Amino acid sequence: MRKPIIAGNWKLNKTISESTELATQLAHSLSDINDREIVIAPIFTCLAATAAAIDNSPIQLAAQNCYPETSGAFTGEISPYFLQDVGCQYVIIGHSERRQLLLETDALINKKLHTAFTTELKIILCIGETLDQRDSGQMLSVLEQQIKGGLANVTAAQMNSVVIAYEPVWAIGTGKTATTEQAQEAHQFIRNLLQQLFNLEVASQIRILYGGSVKPDNVDALMKQEDIDGALVGGASLKAEDFVRIVRFN
Ligand code: PGA
Repeated sequence: MRKPIIAGNWKLNKTISESTELATQLAHSLSDINDREIVIAPIFTCLAATAAAIDNSPIQLAAQNCYPETSGAFTGEISPYFLQDVGCQYVIIGHSERRQLLLETDALINKKLHTAFTTELKIILCIGETLDQRDSGQMLSVLEQQIKGGLANVTAAQMNSVVIAYEPVWAIGTGKTATTEQAQEAHQFIRNLLQQLFNLEVASQIRILYGGSVKPDNVDALMKQEDIDGALVGGASLKAEDFVRIVRFN
């Protein structure tokens, strides 16, 4: 049985006091949850305060990005080592906004993973095709390239700390969710590919999250799909009521 994960990606939103308020509300409303993992990813400047707000709750802390070196002369960057130091259990790597706006490549993303493996952080590796890629029939080859590139030289043992998030770029922040069939098809493809690249154990244990306009009214149907093990939620994770309902999917 794969334990589902519901992760909230707060992106570039919320001040320290707003983050603390939301995290405190979530910690209170979700204190009874133990059959699924709950993760929230505030901005860097809010990590310490949020960590304090969710202490002694089932909620885990994630960062939205990291730098692929541990420490040194890298002005303005934050490494997995310091994310662990501030209290993170997870780091999101390769989000499509970073691939698009900051031109992150699979090679850079792979380097970030390998640096994160030197810490105890777990990794949410994001992949997903654009609308052009889907419309021109390249969806599966794009996903394959992102998986092979992002996971280059990763061992089966290291895969224990990896979670994949499939986020079709055309569904992010657009209100357009992939249909449950489209999402299931992509997730199944990813799981089969992981079996080829690693082994059956890795493929059957890895959690594959869906992301892209997940809301209270579509989460239940998505979570019923065999290969969907959770959600990476952007917009709807910013409102306590919506995120609590998503965590409590049926
Ligand atoms: P969204 O974002 O839920 O607002 O579409 C998802 C994401 O980018 O992780």
